[in-house]
Amino acid sequence: MAQQPTALVTGASRGLGRALAADLSADGWRVVVDARHGDALADAVAGLPDVVDVPGDVADPAHRATLAETVDDLGGLDLLVLNASLLGPSPQPRLADYPLDVLEQVLRVNVLAPLGLVQSLGPLLRPGARILAITSDAGAEPMDGWGGYGTSKAALEFLASVLAVENPQWHVLVVDPGDMRTVMHQEAFPGEDISDRPEPETVVPALRVLVDGDHPSGRYRAADLAPVTS
Ligand SMILES: NC(=O)c1ccc[n+]([C@@H]2O[C@H](COP(=O)([O-])OP(=O)(O)OC[C@H]3O[C@@H](n4cnc5c(N)ncnc54)[C@H](OP(=O)(O)O)[C@@H]3O)[C@@H](O)[C@H]2O)c1
Repeated sequence: MAQQPTALVTGASRGLGRALAADLSADGWRVVVDARHGDALADAVAGLPDVVDVPGDVADPAHRATLAETVDDLGGLDLLVLNASLLGPSPQPRLADYPLDVLEQVLRVNVLAPLGLVQSLGPLLRPGARILAITSDAGAEPMDGWGGYGTSKAALEFLASVLAVENPQWHVLVVDPGDMRTVMHQEAFPGEDISDRPEPETVVPALRVLVDGDHPSGRYRAADLAPVTS
């Protein structure tokens, strides 16, 4: 029998991370998940088969070490999903007014933590493993009010592209999921009705195209991979 595939999905207590973790679990994967709030994480994955919840902050090196130990104990990793992310203040300040200490924290979570995870978990990636880095259109287009978060996603994308060049044995897949009806999206549009945005579950089939297919390292848009309907 083929070895059970193993994934690590960061930020899986809600939103896109939770939707992908549930889908992988239902499909026979073993899934390690994290999020800062342990109770919410445990509730989110309760009843999902073969899911190991490891609460913690991806920006904390000790938590990343615990994740690596967990994955090592499980025998290696086929899929690393760099999903956990921080929007920053809500509403988002323009760059001229952006508190630099807050921007530093956004960069720690959205840029340094993903690289730290790749550094810790890279040696545990099995042949043919995929790294999925979740980005945003804000990382590719300059938009008024999106300079902090957007800069972090642009940096994440550049890190991913260099990692791909330096590690041709990996599939480093950067994917823009598009707008989704999630807590982060509501924070980005405080007070607005976001009920017309698609649920994160609708984006999972596009992510599975990248997980299950043989796509080369690069940047992808979920909407180009599979239909996303609200
Ligand atoms: N929603 C959109 O419209 C949209 C559009 C483009 C791109 N994206 C990207 O899609 C991804 C998922 O976003 P989402 O909308 O699903 O967000 P979400 O609903 O706010 O969920 C974020 C998840 O990440 C966890 N998290 C946040 N900071 C963390 C940290 N430092 N360490 C560990 N876990 C952390 C949260 O749990 P805790 O709070 O308990 O830590 C939660 O489980 C992100 O990379 C986001 O940038 C979203």
